[in-house]
Amino acid sequence: MKRILVTGGAGFLGSHLCERLITDGHEVLCVDNFFTGTRANIGHLQGHKRFELLRHDVTFPLYVEVDQIYNLACPASPIHYQHDPVQTTKTSVHGAINMLGLAKRTKARIFQASTSEVYGDPEVHPQPESYWGKVNPIGPRSCYDEGKRCAETLFFDYWRQHKLQIKVVRIFNTYGPSMHPSDGRVVSNFIVQALRGEDITIYGDGQQTRSFCYVDDMIEGFVRMMESEAELTGPVNLGNPGEFTMLELAETVLSMAGSKSKLVFLPLPTDDPKQRQPDISLAMERLSWSPRVPLEDGLKSTIQYFRKALAIC
Ligand SMILES: NC(=O)c1ccc[n+]([C@@H]2O[C@H](COP(=O)([O-])OP(=O)(O)OC[C@H]3O[C@@H](n4cnc5c(N)ncnc54)[C@H](O)[C@@H]3O)[C@@H](O)[C@H]2O)c1
Repeated sequence: MKRILVTGGAGFLGSHLCERLITDGHEVLCVDNFFTGTRANIGHLQGHKRFELLRHDVTFPLYVEVDQIYNLACPASPIHYQHDPVQTTKTSVHGAINMLGLAKRTKARIFQASTSEVYGDPEVHPQPESYWGKVNPIGPRSCYDEGKRCAETLFFDYWRQHKLQIKVVRIFNTYGPSMHPSDGRVVSNFIVQALRGEDITIYGDGQQTRSFCYVDDMIEGFVRMMESEAELTGPVNLGNPGEFTMLELAETVLSMAGSKSKLVFLPLPTDDPKQRQPDISLAMERLSWSPRVPLEDGLKSTIQYFRKALAIC
């Protein structure tokens, strides 16, 4: 049994991770400032003798004793991270400094939830970890993209300078139950609009592609990475390489939700990447990991979750 800190533990991915770590027999300290996370996401864990919740903002130092740290704290959807861009950069950068400082003091192994956004609007397709990315440093998405890039820099400097055991993964679009209904991410957006019978909003002509990984596959990747041999620092891409256009996704959601919503087309937001697909060769080779849940199966449980969350029967 290890004592494991999960920052951002009340969020979408964090809450699934806390549940998995409790199931695996660990003691979990979930830290969150509830900016986008909710108590409801971890409600079923509250009262468990190996689970503890602490309201705390990672931009401030934290003094606890732990064996492992999963650093997930950071709003992930553009609507949320653009709400207070200065705080978003602070969360990524100051949050990383504080958590790396904690890992240094406690000699804990530390995991960073980085993102495919570090590749920006990529000129290389699919994106391998060796690609350095094409990121706008001064646009409305930069608080997130550059914050995450700087966090990666800090992780690798702490590794070189202080010999910390770091584990950096670059997460590609992930979806599943417990996503925030109003976070504006494409899967939740389409499902919520379809279930409410509202127009489905597609940005651009809908031909831009994304790949979607189901949350259970992603969490399995997190745990495998954390438990991997010490030499494996990452960055390692985690995501589902299956590529779909936004139009294909919208049509699949409409038919699975049995919805009569119409598709409407809006202008593309600034710096929205046209294509995004992970090259997961490294994860396959070093973690023996690849996603198992097909899109339709994942969408089925996600639609079920949103039906309940929105109380639409
Ligand atoms: N879901 C994805 O598709 C995806 C893709 C790439 C990267 N990621 C990364 O994974 C992590 C989790 O993403 P998610 O989808 O669960 O997002 P989320 O918004 O649901 O979760 C983020 C959590 O961090 C908390 N948080 C934010 N700022 C904080 C602060 N200053 N102090 C403490 N807690 C804070 C929020 O309240 C929330 O609970 C993020 O770091 C995100 O960048 C996610």
